Amino acid sequence: MKALQIAGGRRLSGDISVSGAKNAALPALSASLLTTGRVVLHRIPNVVDIRTMSRLIENIGATVATDSGTCCIEAGNDLEPIAPYELVKTMRASSLVLGPLAARCGRARVSLPGGCAIGSRPIDMHLEGLRSLGATIRQDLGYIEAIAPKGGLTGGRISFRRPTVTGTEDMLMAAVLAKGESVLVNAAREPEVVDLANLLRKMGACIEGDGTSTIRVEGVDSLGGAEHSIIPDRIETGTYLIAGAMLGGELRIRDVLPDHLRPVIAKMKQAGSEIEIRDATTLVVRNNRPLVSVDVTTREHPGFPTDMQAQFMALMTQAGGVSNIVETVFENRFMHAPELRRMGANIDIDGNLAVVRGKTQLTGTDVMASDLRASACLVLAGLAAQGRTVVHRIYHLQRGYERLTEKLTGVGASIKIIDV
Ligand code: EPU
Repeated sequence: MKALQIAGGRRLSGDISVSGAKNAALPALSASLLTTGRVVLHRIPNVVDIRTMSRLIENIGATVATDSGTCCIEAGNDLEPIAPYELVKTMRASSLVLGPLAARCGRARVSLPGGCAIGSRPIDMHLEGLRSLGATIRQDLGYIEAIAPKGGLTGGRISFRRPTVTGTEDMLMAAVLAKGESVLVNAAREPEVVDLANLLRKMGACIEGDGTSTIRVEGVDSLGGAEHSIIPDRIETGTYLIAGAMLGGELRIRDVLPDHLRPVIAKMKQAGSEIEIRDATTLVVRNNRPLVSVDVTTREHPGFPTDMQAQFMALMTQAGGVSNIVETVFENRFMHAPELRRMGANIDIDGNLAVVRGKTQLTGTDVMASDLRASACLVLAGLAAQGRTVVHRIYHLQRGYERLTEKLTGVGASIKIIDV
């Protein structure tokens, strides 16, 4: 098994370049199933989840050619609209093929994802949405099958009980080929949804209102190929911002879209971090003064992202005072807290509230990663800790952070992959 070994306490200075967003690249790959045309996607991060999605769409019948961050996808007429358990079990985002396959092939058979370390994460809103577009949903042998009526999906009104990111993306991809108008109400407003809408428009789709909570789609008969560059990963950006706030001499984070980080930057500044928007694509962070505790509640965009909650908790162990961190998006997303405690952090958990008392000197030890962002939190804690930290189960990290060890080593961290 591989683990990450970190020698803590090193100052971080220099440049880090951010990769394309995993959570924007996943729906983009899936959207390529909507056309026989050639879809060329740039800035695709080389991480495990992306390789899984590529295998999934290849398994369905598309050809995928990848070369240094560019993916060319062609999904000809011979598609088998099935997402098997072997692939879905390793990546929940596989349900993103439901909408495009139901729209393009009139049928989609997708293994039901099981539970997940951060919550039960059902896909009921995806299914409810497909029903609103006329599909019939069946469940057997652990699979969900969506079947469109004879003439294909028809436009409809999809009202989400709460905003869902992949649910909105999935329904957007279903609606673009449905007959007539669809309205997505209480839709997710995340930048990744907007990036998908931008790609779909380049393919010929008619979409308005993405980035707001009401999205209107006028279905078209067919879509064509397109070329598109994926947005920078705002969560990777935020993770390195926090590294800089904990240990930064001057850390310059490049190739980013600062606007997508607004809620994170606002909270970090409130905590005393020095962050400068140097230009349209560069953020600079320094650790020049003591940090103070601030409270954070995770919310859908434009609120504070749940995908930054674990990393922010690591930051708050280094801030003076008491920080209340409330998680409202997922029901079980504090698995990193007991591991931080093992490193010396003072954290109490009460339901969806974590109370972090700082500042504590963290000390290195062996810790276990439970999910992608929890892993990032433990890496940050390891960078700030005294002595040696070994983060186990790094396969979680490899699902979503491209070249993390190289990027951190490049700015002065002592971090390497070891066999344990
Ligand atoms: N939900 C339902 N029913 C559904 C769909 C969602 O009850 O049909 C619930 C979820 O259980 C959760 C809430 O709605 O409590 C919001 O979940 P959402 O659907 O927005 O999450 P997701 O689309 O499954 C994406 C990201 C996650 C990120 C969340 C929230 C991708 C591939 N994944 O998941 O990213 O945490 O949105 O922003 O885009 C990560 O990258 O580490 C990650 C977990």
